[in-house]
Amino acid sequence: MHHPVDQPDLDADLARAADLLRRAQRVAVLTGAGVSAESGVPTFRGAGGLWEGHRVEDVATPEAFAHDPALVWRFYHLRRAAVAKVRPNAGHFALAALEDRLGSDQLTLATQNIDALHKAAGSRRVLELHGRLSRVRCTGCDYLADRPGEELPELPRCLKCGELLRPDVVWFHEMLPHRVWREAEEAAEACDVFLVVGTSAIVYPAAGLIQTARRGGAPVIEFNLEATPASSIADVSLFGPSGELLPELLRRLDA
Ligand code: OAD
Ligand code: ZN
Repeated sequence: MHHPVDQPDLDADLARAADLLRRAQRVAVLTGAGVSAESGVPTFRGAGGLWEGHRVEDVATPEAFAHDPALVWRFYHLRRAAVAKVRPNAGHFALAALEDRLGSDQLTLATQNIDALHKAAGSRRVLELHGRLSRVRCTGCDYLADRPGEELPELPRCLKCGELLRPDVVWFHEMLPHRVWREAEEAAEACDVFLVVGTSAIVYPAAGLIQTARRGGAPVIEFNLEATPASSIADVSLFGPSGELLPELLRRLDA
């Protein structure tokens, strides 16, 4: 359950956040499911965290796929269909606008989301830490393909080798894509300000980017409905929907 946090001086906190951001040249961002919540994509934790009685952690593992690929694919077919219908919200658009404002290569957006909504909103430098739902790859060969919006068979097979295809996403117990992860770490180390948006900040290694940025001396600004483990290391925590807070922060940069 989300209990919206009472923030006595949101206005002053927004002003502090705007101040930090105005002075920054390089910005790194970590987003999670919360940034897409206002687009209608359900988050993992909290309400709706169970799927057909399974914890998400139990259908999103290589072990689950080996044991019951049809069950795992049913879960991903539903998610693919849901995500194909959604549009970016004001929070995604504000992050794309911030990238434009800072100029080329000054903003790196690392996302845990697999819905590709940051790209759809116009963000260019996006690091998809957990892969992308609309892409499939083969479990037997190096086949990799974009299949957005397409209805796949219950157990889709590779045209090249006949083995099962799987979603090109990172499951629990799997490594993050190596190059993408290295770029995210470098961005966290080098940034002047780090934004954490809509993540419960408990899934590693992604959540570790927040500590990496902090160790590198960057102030951390958090956007969430409620307090998270990131709140204790954030310089400013802004509690509310990211689709409202991010555009408000952007407006204040020019004010
Ligand atoms: P979670 O579902 O764990 O957390 C979503 C966070 O967003 C919570 O802290 C909410 O309070 C917050 N939130 C919800 N609505 C919001 C809104 N409108 N504005 C701002 N914040 C809002 O999602 P993640 O942190 O993304 O991994 O989860 C991390 C990873 O765990 C996912 O990438 C996925 C998952 O299992 C894999 O699949 C590998
Ligand atoms: Zn194959």
